[in-house]
Parts: sequence; C-alpha cells; structure tokens
Amino acid sequence: MSTLQQLPRHVDVVEVGPRDGLQNEAAAITLETKVELVERLAAAGFANVEAAAFVSPKWVPQMADSAEVMARIARRPGTTYSALVPNVRGMEAALAAGVGEVVVFSAASEAFAQRNINCSIAESIARFEPVAAMARDAGVRLRGSISCALGCPYQGAVAPAAVADVVRRMADLGCDDVDIADTIGVGTPGAVQAVFEACARVLPMQRLAGHFHDTYGQALANVLAALELGVASFHASVAGLGGCPYAKGATGNVATEDLLYMLHGLGLHTGVDLDAVVDAGTFISAALGRASHSRAGRALQLHRAETARG
Ligand code: HMG
Ligand code: MG
Repeated sequence: MSTLQQLPRHVDVVEVGPRDGLQNEAAAITLETKVELVERLAAAGFANVEAAAFVSPKWVPQMADSAEVMARIARRPGTTYSALVPNVRGMEAALAAGVGEVVVFSAASEAFAQRNINCSIAESIARFEPVAAMARDAGVRLRGSISCALGCPYQGAVAPAAVADVVRRMADLGCDDVDIADTIGVGTPGAVQAVFEACARVLPMQRLAGHFHDTYGQALANVLAALELGVASFHASVAGLGGCPYAKGATGNVATEDLLYMLHGLGLHTGVDLDAVVDAGTFISAALGRASHSRAGRALQLHRAETARG
C-alpha cells in the first residue's frame, strides 16, 4: 500500500495569519481590518485561529492592539481563539481578553531565545511555570511552541535531541500540545522526519504540530513528510503572510490556501472551506496593498475570474 493511503484522515489546520502573519508587517493595519480577518477565518471553519499576542509592544508593535481585537471579534461557537503569552503579565491580559488557548514560546537554540524573548531557554521555562498554573486554574488550554527546531539564524544547525529536550520541558509544564517550528524555513523532509521521530519519543505524535515557514520553498514537502509519520496538526498563514521579527529574511508560514489545496487533494478532511480562505486572502492582501503570496490562492482567483467570463 502507498504511504499516501495511510495518512491521518482528519488534519487540524491552525490558522496563524492574524498573529504570525501580521506581527511582521511594518505597515499600519487598522483594528477593523484585523477584526474582519479573524472573523472571516473563523467563518471559514478553522477550529483554532491564532488571533493575538500579549507581548511587549516595544518588541512587537503590530500586536499592541491585541486586547482590542479580542474584545471586538464576534466569537463563533466551536472556534478557539489562541494567543501568544511570554510571561505572567501577558497571561493576565490574555485571560482578561477571554483567550481560549495560550501559547508559551521558547526555542531549541539558546541564541534565538535570547534574541526573541531576552532570556535563556531554562529561564523561559521557569517564567512559564506560573503561566501554566494560571492556565490550569482558569481551564484554558496550554500550547508550547519551539522555534528554530530545524535550524537557527544565529547558531546554525540544531540537533533533534535539543528539540526533544525542550518538548520534554514543555510537556512537564503541562502543555497539551507542542509546536515544532521551522522559524527560518530551512528544514527539508528527511530532517523534519528526524526531528519528529526524536520528539515523539517524549510526547505522542498526536500532540505534536508542524509550524513550517516557507522561506526555502520546503514547507509543503515538510508537511507531507510529517503527515507520513502520523502528525495531524499543522499551522498555516492565509495568503502566506508573515515572517518573524527576530529572524531576518524569514518569510511567512506555508500559505493556508496551498496547504488546504494539497490536503483536500489527498482526500484528507480539514473542515475548512478553501473558497472562503481564498476570499480572506484576497481581503488581507488588498488591505496590505500587494498580491497574495499563496500560489493556490492566486490560481484559484484566476480560475474564478476566467469561469465568470465564460
Ligand atoms: P524584556 O525587555 O526582557 O522584559 O522583554 P521586561 O520585563 O524588562 O519588559 C520590557 C518592557 O515591556 C517593560 O515596559 C514591560 O512593562 C513591558 P517599560 O517598563 O520598558 O515601559 N512588558 C510587557 N508589555 C505588554 N505585555 C507583556 C509585557 N511584558 C513586559 N506581556 C519579553 C521580555 C518576553 C516581554 C519580550 O522579549 C517580548 O515581549 N518578546 C516577544 C517577542 C515576540 O513576540 N516575538 C514574535 C513571536 S514568536 C514567533 O513568531 C515564533 C513562532 O511563530 C514560532 C516560530 O515560527 O518559530 C511562535
Ligand atoms: Mg512562526
């Protein structure tokens, strides 16, 4: 039997465009645009939309209005609105905003942890302990995210064992799920499988997710490599928005439209309406004054226009 016939039948796609995507945009984006983007994505059927980040506005100015975004959105039952939280202060703001899942984030490389959150990996885990306790008390889901799991812009190569070690620390904190993030998009399918195999010795594959930036054009191949191992949760960014303010040159996550096109083409179920995501991608690209970075999004738009012309 082909390995493609043994893939997980349902795949969770976490839409991270409003957070990972917009955080890296230099242009001013209105509150109304952010709210409409989140609402369009929730309406498209994502079970989880990463909508905000309660981080220092000095570090990431674009996320400064996260509380307002959370306050304004019309919430859909069945959608979890998640947000990044770096410390207790951020957690207090996230809980006050009614976030359904908080994401604590560290790195597999010491150099990147210092640049992104201004502390060591061990210090970040210690900082997350009270955050995790607050999540438990409030009954809010806790997710962990590990940057530079496939390479670091400052340190270079990152060993799978180093990633697995941070997965273990995040599992000990009480994280429900842990994201394996290729922040700078350097991973290739064999390296991705090696990292997931190492991490799955610590936490079951069903609790690991792939967060692949597409800088080197490898993200879809990397998703397929992880799917083959049984990973069934992936992050994607509508219109391929984004990058990372602390990883120079990093481009956005795999575009959601491209990911859905591949998953649906494989006959896998996501519960997400691709057409509605294409519309959301067109909306945000127009608001940013540029073309969508999604190949499938652009092709589907063109196909629609040609069909309409007859
Ligand atoms: P610090 O400067 O070491 O900490 O930053 P601090 O405690 O000295 O705080 C500095 C200032 O920020 C102070 O203000 C604090 O009050 C304020 P001042 O006294 O100077 O006026 N502050 C806050 N304000 C609002 N909300 C807060 C908060 N905390 C402190 N929660 C800190 C340490 C962790 C706060 C900072 O480094 C930070 O916010 N970093 C966030 C960086 C970030 O958001 N990066 C992008 C997201 S991660 C990512 O994209 C990767 C991911 O996608 C996976 C992948 O692809 O790799 C998840
Ligand atoms: Mg990211």
